[in-house]
Amino acid sequence: MAVFWIILLGAIGVAVYAFVSGSYLLLAIPAAFFGIVVYLTVIARKDAAYVPTPEPVVKQMLEMAGLKPGETLYDLGSGDGRIVRTAARDFGANAIGIEMDKGLISNSMRHIKAENLEEKVKIIEGNFFGTDLSAADVVTLYLRQDTNDRLVSKFKKELKPGTRIVSYTFVMTGWKPTRVENGLFAHSRVYLYTM
Ligand SMILES: C[S@@+](CC[C@H](N)C(=O)[O-])C[C@H]1O[C@@H](n2cnc3c(N)ncnc32)[C@H](O)[C@@H]1O
Repeated sequence: MAVFWIILLGAIGVAVYAFVSGSYLLLAIPAAFFGIVVYLTVIARKDAAYVPTPEPVVKQMLEMAGLKPGETLYDLGSGDGRIVRTAARDFGANAIGIEMDKGLISNSMRHIKAENLEEKVKIIEGNFFGTDLSAADVVTLYLRQDTNDRLVSKFKKELKPGTRIVSYTFVMTGWKPTRVENGLFAHSRVYLYTM
């Protein structure tokens, strides 16, 4: 941490010197520093960037899972809440989204209120690696390959037998899918696994 403060002070010093001396090219140094800080704190902290699942694929994923009224679905990294809202609205499930991005959470809360789904949909603000998934009947994923791989031991520890996992685009490495379907675009598949 001390190194961070030393570099920060150095970057501020360079910025001040660049302004005072008129050597504006030197501003590239503090700009690069602040760029790296933003990258590390905002983007690299996430286990997947925000890219929404296309709406037809959301429906396809829930149909593949055979989601039934009264079942509990968890969407890991729930984005604008489209999967949890569809699960509650069109399938009668109790749906829980886990999301770490405050902007996306308030966006999903707006949609949830507008659609009167507050009773059936909850959004947990936080990291899905730290959230207990043992109540899940269905887990949905649209993350990254390395993130799916890091979820394997958590799933083995927490998910009960019979829990369905549906993953868009990325596989559970080494697991045999129960079913695979084509998604909307070339090379985008939907994978169903059963614990
Ligand atoms: C590819 S988007 C998928 C969004 C949504 N599930 C959908 O299918 O439309 C991945 C989401 O995961 C969130 N995310 C990434 N890492 C996370 C973590 N460790 N805990 C909670 N949310 C995370 C991102 O903010 C982003 O909204």
